[in-house]
Amino acid sequence: MIAKAELHVHLEGTAPPELIGRIAARNGVALPPGMLAADGRFHYTNFLHFLETYDLAASVIRTAEDYRDITYEYLASVAQEGGIYVELTASPDHATAVGLSDEEHYGGIAAGIDDARRDHGIEGRIIVSAVRNYGGENAVRVAHHAAARPHPYVVGFGLAGDERVPPTEFAQAFAIAHDAGLGCSIHAGEWEGPRSIRAALELPVTRLDHGVRAIEDPKLVEEIADRGITLNTCPTSNVVLGVYPSLAEHPLPHLRAAGIRVTLGSDDPPYFGATLGGEYDVCRAQFGWDDQHLREVTTAAIDAAFCDEELRAQLRARLHEGPLAEAPAGATGPGDNGE
Ligand code: HPA
Ligand code: ZN
Repeated sequence: MIAKAELHVHLEGTAPPELIGRIAARNGVALPPGMLAADGRFHYTNFLHFLETYDLAASVIRTAEDYRDITYEYLASVAQEGGIYVELTASPDHATAVGLSDEEHYGGIAAGIDDARRDHGIEGRIIVSAVRNYGGENAVRVAHHAAARPHPYVVGFGLAGDERVPPTEFAQAFAIAHDAGLGCSIHAGEWEGPRSIRAALELPVTRLDHGVRAIEDPKLVEEIADRGITLNTCPTSNVVLGVYPSLAEHPLPHLRAAGIRVTLGSDDPPYFGATLGGEYDVCRAQFGWDDQHLREVTTAAIDAAFCDEELRAQLRARLHEGPLAEAPAGATGPGDNGE
């Protein structure tokens, strides 16, 4: 099994309905009406509705233990698929909304990371993200908060939410985060086109979350490739939310062929029926990517990770160790390239 690393996943968005239900019951709160469809899955009909449903699910997450469990269960599931590293996008705006202190919020996530490392050998770090539609001033507040390093596992700053609020509103927030030595990434080029990606590239970012609509502007594709900007793409999320009609029409192979470094992410796994391993499978089945291509995806993620150099070296060593043990005894051995 190829070692995998993920840079684009929203922490509250990793919790499936079953876990949200368990947490709600534990906290003595009712499940928010409208959150689930009749089939028990998260209910939404478009991107903005998705963000609303996401907020409903997040509203029952109330304690450090909740954040610990969500983090642990997600990392454990990724480890089962060969994941060795995940950068979890945390949202202090959501934690603050339920009255959770920073200490509880990050303490819970960090406990989940520590327990998952102990039990499953997977590493995790935290990206602090502001909600875009709360505006530039709020993002400045969140950036100051991230710059103060609320926990040693905080390594990056990002922006999620409604992409229609342009990147230009967030110059100050990104300057604060960048000056504090945090890695910076922004959602762009998912709902908005090349113009918003160009604006995003004025910020001190080394990565874009999605960025796939760059394909509409060949000069922009060239610039992204030349500057070594990494695109953290989520093909299943894009198709489920209707950015592209089908995987066959997704531009990922063209972006890669143009020399852009791409990684794979699940975005909000249970909402989109995605998993990190599933995204690797999609690229194999849909785009014909072989083991070497897929290993390059993991290499791109490790290279673009916001972690310290010591951890990056460890992750590279694990990737080059060869296939992770998975198959029945005797079926694969060291140096075998089998997935
Ligand atoms: N996109 C943008 N904002 C988000 C997402 C997403 O997938 N999940 C949570 N906030
Ligand atoms: Zn996202």
